[in-house]
Amino acid sequence: MADQSSQGSAGSGEQWATRLGVILAVAGSAVGLGNFLRFPGKAAMNGGGAFMLPYFISLLILGIPLCWAEWTMGRYGGNRGFNSAPGIYTTIWRHKFARYLGAFALLIPLVIYMYYVLIEAWCLGYAWDYLVGNLQLGSDPQAYKDHFNEFVGGNADGFIYEGGNNELLGVLALVFGMNFYFIYRGLSKGIETFCKWAMPLMALCALCVLARVLTLEADKVVAGLGSMWNPNPDYLWKPQTWLEASGQIFFSLSVGFGIIINYASYLKKSDDVALSGLTASSVNEFFEVCLGGLITLPAAFIFLGVAATQQGTFGLGFNALPNVFAEMPGGRFFGCCWFFMLFLAAITSSVSMLQPVIAFFEEGLGMRRHASVTLLAFIAGCGTLFCLHYSKDMLALDTMDFWVGTMFIVMLALVQSLLYGWAMGIVRGERELHEGANIRVPHFIQYILKYVTPLYLLAIFVGTFVIQGPGYVETLRKGGVPLYTMLFILAIFALLLMLVHSAGKRWDQEGRFDRLPE
Ligand code: ALA
Repeated sequence: MADQSSQGSAGSGEQWATRLGVILAVAGSAVGLGNFLRFPGKAAMNGGGAFMLPYFISLLILGIPLCWAEWTMGRYGGNRGFNSAPGIYTTIWRHKFARYLGAFALLIPLVIYMYYVLIEAWCLGYAWDYLVGNLQLGSDPQAYKDHFNEFVGGNADGFIYEGGNNELLGVLALVFGMNFYFIYRGLSKGIETFCKWAMPLMALCALCVLARVLTLEADKVVAGLGSMWNPNPDYLWKPQTWLEASGQIFFSLSVGFGIIINYASYLKKSDDVALSGLTASSVNEFFEVCLGGLITLPAAFIFLGVAATQQGTFGLGFNALPNVFAEMPGGRFFGCCWFFMLFLAAITSSVSMLQPVIAFFEEGLGMRRHASVTLLAFIAGCGTLFCLHYSKDMLALDTMDFWVGTMFIVMLALVQSLLYGWAMGIVRGERELHEGANIRVPHFIQYILKYVTPLYLLAIFVGTFVIQGPGYVETLRKGGVPLYTMLFILAIFALLLMLVHSAGKRWDQEGRFDRLPE
């Protein structure tokens, strides 16, 4: 990047080619299905405009400060020769336990990838169906629900073995292959190059659909926007609203995923992280609030009424919106644009979920690229096939999303805030953050990171567990798919712990942590 004279960063020798590239890659990781499906779904179910108050508070005191902490710790670890969380955490907290905490930062992106790539395939499948005219199902909402269930196998487990949906299998294989192709190509030639054209194309598709929605009949558009933005103050008193808003911030910014810390580790010491972190977060918020917030709910409300907005994430995206496109002039074109845009948003995120694990396999286990990619494709493929097999009511996917995509990311965010605020310390943290920085981050942010963020995160973790946990624990107790899914997650975690243990022994023998500068 800019200053070629500065110290090289990563142990792997990989680097971002340009500053714009790294910002677009981080923004690409952040902007995903969470922005266009999860955000409007959560907002609609939690008081519309009222949801936005806890949402913005969480963004300011959790999301952006934690992004800065992740960028800072990532670059710090990268400059000490590590790109994966087990190594980076140990450069910050020189204790053997730190590397095992890093296993958590490998588990989270890997497991989320397993189900996320499946939804990505649904999006590409739907875009294709619009293109070839297979989704002209008329105005009966039930037709779209039936189509979705048939497409994803929502009616029975094991539909892939019983002549299930060959189209989905083909699209899934294609999407899976694309993800691994970009990873195989490497950081700059694969991820960065892809994000540089995928992000603008995604914005173009989103603006196209937005322009269509906002130029429908004016009074209906105003009512539709009101459905999204008018606050229902009753919701502000519900703890659930606050928990959902914070969870949305994490999921959306990809904070607590172990991704940003890995991406930032490829920066040089002189590269800015303060402005880049803020810019990437702002791009994500633009896509989420200005595009996601203005398309999905208003469109569903305008054509189908308020009931359609209360269907939750998948109901809104895959049932209500296709129904909307059927009613809208030029609906086939806009339907294709919408689902292709969702696919682009998803793939720039899913590819970022693979990189932290690839980095670990290579630097921790000494694997070459083809071996690391093959091993990771095998493990991730097993998980995706697991979700595809247990497709009835999406129980496997839902269990992974609650435990890993909700609870574990809050836990990892908590771990990272403690590493930054207490192990690295805010004096060193602030100095590191401002190394090469293009903006000055206000001093009070350090105190927020040290005291407020961990306490807030702890409250969210306990609150989410108290409110939603018992239901999920009960389903685990009953056995069946949720239990198998949990056992599957634990098996992956055990495998990662063993691999981290063996990598740690190797690093210790090489004395990698003995010679590190403070
Ligand atoms: N941050 C990604 C999303 O919002 C995971 O989908």
